[in-house]
Amino acid sequence: MLNINSAFKLNNGVEMPLLGLGVFRAPAGDEARAAVRTALEYGYRHIDTARIYCNEKSVGRGIRDSGVKREDIFVTTKLWRTDFQQPRRGLEESLERLGLDYVDLYLLHWPFTGFAQAYLELEKLQREGLCRAIGVSNFKIHHFEALKQAGAEVMPQVNQTECHPANAENELLAWCQAHQVALEAYSPLGGQGRLLVADPVISGIAAYHQVSGAQVLLRWNLQRGVIVIPKSIHPERILVNSQLYDFELTDAEMQAIGKLDRGDRRGWDPDRIEDRPADQWPVPAEEA
Ligand SMILES: NC(=O)c1ccc[n+]([C@@H]2O[C@H](COP(=O)([O-])OP(=O)(O)OC[C@H]3O[C@@H](n4cnc5c(N)ncnc54)[C@H](OP(=O)(O)O)[C@@H]3O)[C@@H](O)[C@H]2O)c1
Repeated sequence: MLNINSAFKLNNGVEMPLLGLGVFRAPAGDEARAAVRTALEYGYRHIDTARIYCNEKSVGRGIRDSGVKREDIFVTTKLWRTDFQQPRRGLEESLERLGLDYVDLYLLHWPFTGFAQAYLELEKLQREGLCRAIGVSNFKIHHFEALKQAGAEVMPQVNQTECHPANAENELLAWCQAHQVALEAYSPLGGQGRLLVADPVISGIAAYHQVSGAQVLLRWNLQRGVIVIPKSIHPERILVNSQLYDFELTDAEMQAIGKLDRGDRRGWDPDRIEDRPADQWPVPAEEA
C-alpha cells in the first residue's frame, strides 16, 4: 500500500521518497524557504532543486527552519552546463549554498555537450560521499548508451524527465524499469502554464473519487512506479498534493488516463537542447 513514506529503492540501495516538492520558479527568499518548510511540516521528505533555479540557499534555510533531521530528508540538486567542465566545483558550490555536507541525489540537468565526461566526474563525487546517488535528467535511451561507451561504471540511479499523461514516456519507463533506473517525473501536473488538472478525463475521474485533478495526475504516476515532484508555493496546494493515499485508481481509470498520451512535451526536446537560444533560458537573479 502506498503512503507518504513510500520510497523507491535505487540500484545502489539508497531509498528515494516517491513524493517530493519541486521548486523550479519558486522565488528565492521567503517564498521558496516557506514552501520547503511547509512541505516538510506536511510530511514530505524530498526536495528537488537545481543550481539554475537560484534558490538553493532558500531551500537550505527552509530545511533548517523545519527542524526535520537532515538524514531524514532526501535533497536533490543538479549540475548546470556552466559547470560541465568542473562538476566538483558545481557540487561544492551547491553544497555551500544549501548549507549541507552532501546531497542525496546529484543530476546532470540536461544532456548538454560533454555530458558523458561530466557523468564520469559524478561517479568520482559519489565515491567520495558528496552525493549518495547520481543520475541524469532529460535523457533519452540513446543518451544512456553514450554514457556506457564513454566508460561509465555506474548505471545512473535516476532519470528525471518530463512525464504526465500527455507525455507518458511509456517506452522510456519500460527501458528504465528493465535497467534498474528510477524514472522521476518532472512537470507531473503538466507543467507551469500547461496544467492538465482540468482535462475532462482527469476531472471526471477526480469527481468520482472526490479528489482534485492534481491528485489524480500524481496518483497515476505513483501507481506506475514513477516518482513525482509537484511544485507549489501555496500551502493548501502543497498539502493537497501530498494527500494521495486514501484513494486508488482502477485499472480502467489508469488505462483511460493512459489514452491521453500524445507525446506532447512542454519543455525543450533533449536532442535539440544545444539549439535553445540563451535568452530563452529562465535564469533567475542570484539569491541573497
Ligand atoms: N530536470 C528538469 O529539466 C526539470 C524541468 C522542469 C521541472 N523540474 C522539476 O520538477 C518540478 C515540477 O515541475 P514543474 O514545476 O515544471 O510543474 P508542475 O509541478 O507540473 O506544475 C507546477 C504548477 O502547478 C501549480 N500547482 C501546484 N499544485 C497545484 C494544485 N494542486 N492545483 C492546481 N495547480 C497547482 C503551481 O502553482 P503554484 O506554485 O502557484 O501553486 C505551478 O504553477 C519543478 O519544480 C522542478 O523541481 C525539472
